Amino acid sequence: MRLAWILGVFCFGVCADEPGAARQQELENMLKHDCGSCHGLPPKGGLGPSLMPDALAGKNDALLFDAIRNGRAGTAMPSWRPFLNDAEIRWMVGRLRQR
Ligand code: HEC
Repeated sequence: MRLAWILGVFCFGVCADEPGAARQQELENMLKHDCGSCHGLPPKGGLGPSLMPDALAGKNDALLFDAIRNGRAGTAMPSWRPFLNDAEIRWMVGRLRQR
């Protein structure tokens, strides 16, 4: 019992960092449909700016993370904090850089 508990805690620390495969698929769909509605599909820009790797190259992860997590006040970019945890947002930023 105790071993399982220790493994559980270990897994929480390590596994919590990257969304699981099923969740990654959901996030992928979200990027297409939710983000794509403003940023385009592929996200070359629309109501929101381009999120293609070349457009993001000069922008650091913290800036992009903040835009997704908190939105941009005074613009159409909403906060995604109610729907995405920090690890999921980090995953999305990494995903956008790989397109
Ligand atoms: C309702 C329209 C809308 C939706 C939906 C939307 N965005 Fe945005 N997004 C914007 C706008 C407009 C901006 C530009 C804000 C500004 O002028 O600073 C923006 C900015 C951003 C930025 C900052 C880009 C930069 O160059 O600084 C990122 C990253 C981003 N959005 C990611 C996302 C992701 C990921 C999603 C989906 C989870 C999403 N957006 C959904 C409208 C939207």
